[in-house]
Amino acid sequence: MAFQGSTIIQAPMAGGAANPLLAATVCNAGGIGFLAGGYKKAEEIKKEIREIRKMTKAPFGVNLFVPSSDPASLAGLEAYKLKLERAAKALGCSLGEVRMDDDDWEEKKKIVAEEKIPFVSFTFGCPDRTDIQWLQKKGTSVIVTVTNEVEAEQALKNQANALCVQGPEAGGHRSVFQNNGSPKEDEASLLEILSSVRRITSAPLIAAGGIMDGTGIREMLDAGADAVQMGTAFLCCPESGAHPIYKEALRNPAFTETIVTRSFTGRPARGLKNDFIAAYDDCAPALYPYVHQLTQPIRKAAADRGDAGYMSLWAGTGFKGIRPLPAEELVKKLLDEAGLER
Ligand SMILES: Cc1cc2nc3c(=O)[nH]c(=O)nc-3n(C[C@H](O)[C@H](O)[C@H](O)COP(=O)(O)O)c2cc1C
Repeated sequence: MAFQGSTIIQAPMAGGAANPLLAATVCNAGGIGFLAGGYKKAEEIKKEIREIRKMTKAPFGVNLFVPSSDPASLAGLEAYKLKLERAAKALGCSLGEVRMDDDDWEEKKKIVAEEKIPFVSFTFGCPDRTDIQWLQKKGTSVIVTVTNEVEAEQALKNQANALCVQGPEAGGHRSVFQNNGSPKEDEASLLEILSSVRRITSAPLIAAGGIMDGTGIREMLDAGADAVQMGTAFLCCPESGAHPIYKEALRNPAFTETIVTRSFTGRPARGLKNDFIAAYDDCAPALYPYVHQLTQPIRKAAADRGDAGYMSLWAGTGFKGIRPLPAEELVKKLLDEAGLER
């Protein structure tokens, strides 16, 4: 079996939701839990790996962000900064400092290799073949997240063990390899992308984006997926580390739609449409991680104040189907609904 008998994968979710407790609970319920390595210090990942190992003996995963190639020019950053000043002032904070940042890539790779993690997935790009083989020699199954056939071909060429095929319905960042020039909204749906990737490979595929229940899971398995990766569905579980204001917003009928925006980080990401997005979506440059660094204090100040209007509220298109159940109960329900063995 491609994923050691598990079909439901809890998505890595950087920013706090996918903590060791949530991931371990999903593992113990028969799914695969993922820790999110993005944004954290390398040492924090090590700590989380130790924690999850105390809570489960089942295989789990760690996700890392592949560093983006530097943008050719920072044109547009100063103008955006000036516009953001208004939001920072309203929240009583300063904008973040911008700096070159590869998310501690070398150190994090070393940690996941040393720790011999069963599954390591990558987002925002594809590691080179040497790195993939290095991890595979440690016994790791390497998963590369792709959003189209061209990216899938590259990941297969670099010998990834499996692909996570992410559709535009997905909550959080689009895992596009190239940020500059990539469309914010893709025309092809997850089902279409999955079918086109399935045509070029027999490698194990994980479908991600907008899947909320057993019917959604079955639809993906019938279309050629070997497993599904679900993020939004787990955000309101009591074990999830998502901020309470974020959990509340996800279930607040005042939030009616999601939108893909670069306004918070400079990369396209889907979240609940709130005041910040309404004010800044149309002028945000494609400059990750600089935009992420600039807006970080705004998001933090908003969370501290309990103001959902200026927080990044990542959510997939299916957010209205969230069930705020304990993670174990949710996984079991999903397995039952999809007619899968527990
Ligand atoms: C809050 C949040 C944070 C996310 N962070 C990450 C991440 O750190 N790494 C990653 O590969 N995917 C991340 N994703 C995307 C998920 O892996 C997955 O593609 C997505 O959740 C699937 O769509 P769904 O949310 O509709 O289930 C995140 C998604 C959400 C909702």
